[in-house]
Parts: sequence; structure tokens; C-alpha cells
Amino acid sequence: MSALNPFIWDRPLDDPSKIVGMEAFANEVALTLKGQTNVALFGPRDTGKTTFTNQLALELAKKQGTDAPPFDAVKVNLQRVVSIPGFIGCVHDAMTSHPVKSVRRAAQRQIGVLEKEIGFDIKVIKGSVKSALVSPAQDAETLHAQLLAVRSLSEHLVVVFDEFQRLRHCPGDPLAIIRSALMSSGANHVSLVFTGSIRNALKMMLENSEQPIFGEAAQMQLPAISRIDFLEYLDFQFEQTGKPADEDALNHLLNATRAHPRSTQQLAWECWSGTPARKPVTLDTVIEAHDRLVQTIERSEFASVLNVLMSGDEGEVNEVRALQLLADRGGENVTSRPVATRYGFSSHSRVRPALERLQGRGLVDHRDGTWYVVDPLFSEWLRRASPLADRSAPEASLD
Ligand SMILES: Nc1ncnc2c1ncn2[C@@H]1O[C@H](COP(=O)(O)OP(=O)(O)O)[C@@H](O)[C@H]1O
Ligand SMILES: [Mg+2]
Repeated sequence: MSALNPFIWDRPLDDPSKIVGMEAFANEVALTLKGQTNVALFGPRDTGKTTFTNQLALELAKKQGTDAPPFDAVKVNLQRVVSIPGFIGCVHDAMTSHPVKSVRRAAQRQIGVLEKEIGFDIKVIKGSVKSALVSPAQDAETLHAQLLAVRSLSEHLVVVFDEFQRLRHCPGDPLAIIRSALMSSGANHVSLVFTGSIRNALKMMLENSEQPIFGEAAQMQLPAISRIDFLEYLDFQFEQTGKPADEDALNHLLNATRAHPRSTQQLAWECWSGTPARKPVTLDTVIEAHDRLVQTIERSEFASVLNVLMSGDEGEVNEVRALQLLADRGGENVTSRPVATRYGFSSHSRVRPALERLQGRGLVDHRDGTWYVVDPLFSEWLRRASPLADRSAPEASLD
């Protein structure tokens, strides 16, 4: 029995025994990639995209029948990339810190060859070695040569570009470079995964015929973790660590987070650490832990974003109205005229554009035709402060 907190919510998971409910989807995506189709994967942030790519790498390494041999995966994290040198730095990191030793060694060899060819140390670009400045044209060539080096790492390769939509702000045409290095005739053994938390941005890169990677990937949505899978996982983890959870406590926990991946783990963590060793986790534990977490939103970036929107133009204020409306009443009846009026919209036709802008910011999304605030703690914080919410029930009824 371990006494360590089993719940992780501040970084992607890599231990497959802690990744809930992604096996079937990883298998499906792996087979698609092995069949030489690229995949674009949408999911708002904190819903498990990066975690999923870890599960996917394990699945790719398996032999899936005779025509689907094991594949190696290289994961490039583009989260902070706003320039070609930044991109080069991330690819370098992906190569030198690859989790599989044989791939890491092959990468070291390739980097040696590459550096001889370009005539300088890649670390120059990362700024850790002093040298004269390199020109943008040289940067583009370096990135291209570096991606060719990645391509030669394995005969069966998947390259994952995590948070790919970031590249839309990167000057120097990185998509054309990716296309030329990883999607051309010499790259038939390479498939690509693009993940994106801003659905519309990623869609634009794939669906606009002027974009270099137009029409080059099957689009998929990261599936939600099923409530029952999460329930079993939480039950097991609380039990295993000597703090068994009551059934009503677990149900309340999952109602409060709607099984949102990061928030569920965070609330479970809060409950776990607030419970003494060998004591059960009760409904009260969950209610109190939830209250504490909802209060932390007050000092979070969600609150700052809201303040910025509140002091913006009419379109931005409409976004605040739409957020409040969703948090208070759920997303089934968002364009009803009386509701729109009550929230201060000049017309009910303004609700949908506001929701779409919020979706572009990654704050709301829709699934199965219903809009919702992505982060359940943010949603609850909005609802608690709302003058228009029915404060008595967690889920206000619709008009
Ligand atoms: N499959 C999963 N099972 C359980 N928890 C998950 C899963 N995927 C994500 N999480 C939780 O969500 C958090 C954020 O996951 P992450 O993969 O970083 O999301 P994203 O890349 O979409 O922002 C993780 O720290 C973990 O707590
Ligand atoms: Mg991520």
C-alpha cells in the first residue's frame, strides 16, 4: 500500500497505468497512422491531448498485425514556439531527450551529421553557445535539415506536433518546411499527428486551400473519459492508498467536475490530501475541497481574462454575457430570446458569435450539439457569483 498521493494534475501523465480510458482510441489512431494517414486531434486544453500522445506512443510501439509493424514516435512540443529558431530548439529537445534509448542514440548521431553539414552547433540557436547571428534564410534551412534528420531516425515513424496551432503565429512559413521535409516523396514512412487546443485555428490550417498542409490529415476529436471509467479509477486509487472513498463522495466529485480530466484529478488530489491516513473520504470532504478549489479561481488567469473582456468593446462584453449564461443555465437553449435579453444581449442573434469567439479562446466548446464552459471550476465560480443564477441547485433549470 502506497501513501503517496496518486493523483496528478499539473503535468501530462506518462505512466500507462494512470491513464484512464484512452486505450481503444489510441489503438484506432495508431492503426490510422500506420495506414499512412495523418491525424489532427482537437481537444480543449487540460483535457488530455499530451497525455493521449504518450499512450499513443506505447500503442504505436506494438505490432498490430502483419501489415502494421511497430512504429517509433517523436513528440515535438510546440507550446511556446513563436519563431523558427524556437521551433528548431523544440525539435532538438525532442531528439536529445527521447525516452527510447535506441532512438535517442540514433538522434545523437544524426545531430552530429547535421552539425557537420550546417557548419555549426545547434546549441548556437538555443543561445547557449555564443556566435554571430544567423539569418532567417539559414534558420529555415537548418530547420529543414533537422527535420530530414528526424525523418531518418526510424523506418516506421510518427512525428507528433503537440499544440500545432501555435505555428500560425510563427513567421518564416514553418508549414511549408514541414511539408517539404516530412510530407514529400522521401517521407512515405512518416505519418504525422497534429494536436490543437484551439479547434478553429487548427481547422483553418487544414481546411484553407492556401495552406501548405491543406487537406492532409483526418480530423478527430479527443474522446471524453467515460464517467464510469473515471469512477472505477478513483475508487481504486483511494482504496489502494488507504483512504477509501464513499460512493456518494465519488459521485459528487464527478458531478462537480463533469469528469473533466484535469479538474477531476485536481479535486481528487485536494480530497486525498485533506484526509488523514486510514480515514475515509466522505461527501463532506468533497464538498469542502470543491469549495476551496472554486475559490482559487478568484486569483487565476480565468478571472484576469474575464476582467479584460469586461473592459473591452461590445463584442467582448457579449462574451462575458455568453459565459455567464452558459454557467448559469447550461448550453441547451442558448439562443432563446427572453434569456438573451435577461443577460443584456441587444439581440439573441449575438449569442452564437460570442460563443464562437469564446471557443476560439478555448474557454467554451460544444459536444453533441450542446455548448459548455470547458473548465468546470471556472463555470462553478461564475455561477456562484451570478446575480441571475438559481443559487439553490447546482444545475439551474432551463426556462
Ligand atoms: N487519460 C487520462 N486519464 C486520467 N487523467 C487524465 C487523462 N488525460 C489527462 N488527464 C488529467 O488532465 C491533466 C492535463 O492533461 P494534459 O495531457 O496535459 O492535457 P492537454 O495536453 O490537453 O492540455 C493531467 O495532468 C491529468 O491530471
Ligand atoms: Mg498538452
